[in-house]
Amino acid sequence: MGAKRIMKIAPSILSADFSRLGEEVSDVLNAGADYIHFDVMDGNFVPNISFGIPVLKSLRKVTDAFLDVHLMIDRPVRYVENFCDAGADLVNVHYEADSRENIRKAIELIKQKGKKAGITIKPASSVEEILEFLPMLDLVLIMTVEPGFGGQSFMTEQLEKISFISAKIRELGLDCEIEADGGVNSETAQLLKKAGCTVAVAGSYVFGAKDRKAAIDSIR
Ligand code: DX5
Ligand code: ZN
Repeated sequence: MGAKRIMKIAPSILSADFSRLGEEVSDVLNAGADYIHFDVMDGNFVPNISFGIPVLKSLRKVTDAFLDVHLMIDRPVRYVENFCDAGADLVNVHYEADSRENIRKAIELIKQKGKKAGITIKPASSVEEILEFLPMLDLVLIMTVEPGFGGQSFMTEQLEKISFISAKIRELGLDCEIEADGGVNSETAQLLKKAGCTVAVAGSYVFGAKDRKAAIDSIR
């Protein structure tokens, strides 16, 4: 009906000043952030290394915010319980990071910990491949850049996946969010919203803005 959809905004702390991480997080929360997006990279699944469990633990101590953890690591089934214990509210695992069996196991472990579970797909993966997992999921994360780095350009061709999965979720009557990650700014956010995205991750656009509240408002 063309109703105005509101997207949740999840600033990615990959673009934050790590020497003042606690303050950076409270600053974007004050500016209206809904989730805090926590990008974990292992130097294998993606060609970059970021931060992990001890940093998540420290952050959990200083904030009640919803922590949305994006694991860009090989065989995440090995670590999902540790991330839940360290304070994640939601854990995203990459579909490409292990066998279907182990991805299913990882999701089960996250749910057993009482946390929310998400599956993420890279730009080259087809969204059909994750349909069998949909009823188990709280969130599907569609990458709109190649994972590994902040500050890349939005891949418009990924929007089709969002429309497709949005229609599927509606058709099946599921309660599952659709998150998009990479290259989000005030323009690409409009495209995401139209396609049915419900949570937009934004790193450089929010943390690099002089006025972070204005940046968040302009995405939403
Ligand atoms: C990329 C990460 C993203 C990244 C987004 O691998 O998963 O969350 O921080 O950064 P921007 O918003 O700058 O594209
Ligand atoms: Zn991410």
